[in-house]
Amino acid sequence: MKKLFVTLMTVLMVIGVCPESLSAAQKKKKAAVEPKVEFKLPSDETDAEKAARMQWWTDARFGMFIHWGLYALPARHEWVRNRERITNEQYEKYFKHFNPDLYNPKEWARQAKEAGMKYVVLTSKHHEGFCLWDTKYTDYKATNTPIGRDLLKEYVDAFRAEGIRIGFYYSLIDWHHPDFTIDRIHPLRIDNGTKEQYAKLNEGKDMAKYRQYMKDQITELLTNYGKIDIIWFDYSYPGENGKGHEDWDSEGLLKLARTLQPGIIVDNRLDLNDVWGGWDIQTPEQVKVASHPTWNGKKVHWETCQTFSGSWGYYRDETTWKSPAQLIELLSETVSKGGNLLLNVGPTARGEFDYRATERLKAMGEWMHANSRSIYGCTEAPEDLKAPANTILTYNPKTNVLYIHLLNYPMGKLPCEFLDKIEYAQFLHDASEIKFDQKGFTLPILKPHVEIPVIEVFLKK
Ligand code: GLC
Repeated sequence: MKKLFVTLMTVLMVIGVCPESLSAAQKKKKAAVEPKVEFKLPSDETDAEKAARMQWWTDARFGMFIHWGLYALPARHEWVRNRERITNEQYEKYFKHFNPDLYNPKEWARQAKEAGMKYVVLTSKHHEGFCLWDTKYTDYKATNTPIGRDLLKEYVDAFRAEGIRIGFYYSLIDWHHPDFTIDRIHPLRIDNGTKEQYAKLNEGKDMAKYRQYMKDQITELLTNYGKIDIIWFDYSYPGENGKGHEDWDSEGLLKLARTLQPGIIVDNRLDLNDVWGGWDIQTPEQVKVASHPTWNGKKVHWETCQTFSGSWGYYRDETTWKSPAQLIELLSETVSKGGNLLLNVGPTARGEFDYRATERLKAMGEWMHANSRSIYGCTEAPEDLKAPANTILTYNPKTNVLYIHLLNYPMGKLPCEFLDKIEYAQFLHDASEIKFDQKGFTLPILKPHVEIPVIEVFLKK
């Protein structure tokens, strides 16, 4: 009971419902009896404590991103409102016709699990402002469209049932909310607009109200759906006619999230990059990093988010889909630099994964079935082990096993510079021995029936 009260009070204080009316004496008394709150802000954590909090995520290495909203109907990018400068009124037709009758998140969860993904992050609200859950704070939500269901709740239940950790993406940007001020990326922006022009355009809008709206919604999301493992705020663009941490009250949002869900993992798009504890993970988007990202000279937790085909939301006519081999390489390469891959699916407006996404998830699942030991719990290889030509190395520090991913299958012999450190080697997919001598590994001429074969190398103790 007491614990519940303390948690409730902490929440109220964080969201600004602080009982200002208490007298100074009352406050003092209260402070004296109030035990220290159980959660720690990341800024109070030691590196070891943070590593422990992040352990499940570090071991997981592979997650699914899902971008789903009204933009699935125009089916030409989730930024369609920005790109085509669409007003709220013009966009209304998609709200009126949003009816994903084939939505079955159990099927989504099955596909994610089979692909080997251990966590998932779904857009509860994207920049368009449409909410997938039954929020109390706006009518602009799934329950008011023809589908009439809390789609987020069904998602949470389905993925949780598969043992997949749950994340919510929440857009800081909101092109629909009446108090969200028009800025340089808004659909109603002014080309090369001056500060003064924007001020005039935004007369009557009150960002303070929008800040409260976000807090109310984050409170709903992190209270009504059980344990939430990740909150993915997106994104900040400080500077002239942009928005940064002061516009969002990022510090307040972060504290709120941590209070409601101690242990939750938070991305780095709140514009608190310079603050230790302002984020848990760095999130390079659609790039291969050159090396393990650092902050103040220290290696940090990081996750790259990537699309199958250039758009996050469903894009019917987009054809630049990555091949299974490219995707498997992307995953291995990410792990080889100590990071995670969050791979995105943009479901259709009927509520299904596009067949091209399904095909690729299936291919990744087949590869993971035989090769996930080179991914889960793995990270970059010890520095003194140089990757043989055309290979990627990952390493499991707990078992002292190294994994050589053969990107370009060699002809018979694979030269290697650290043969003296090896105790035993085998193909990972079938545990068949791979012999080695001073010249390198001896491989069969015939490439195994695996997209990217992996040599599992047991190192000498
Ligand atoms: C960008 C885009 C957005 C997408 C996100 C994913 O910030 O604005 O559409 O959701 O990246 O990382």
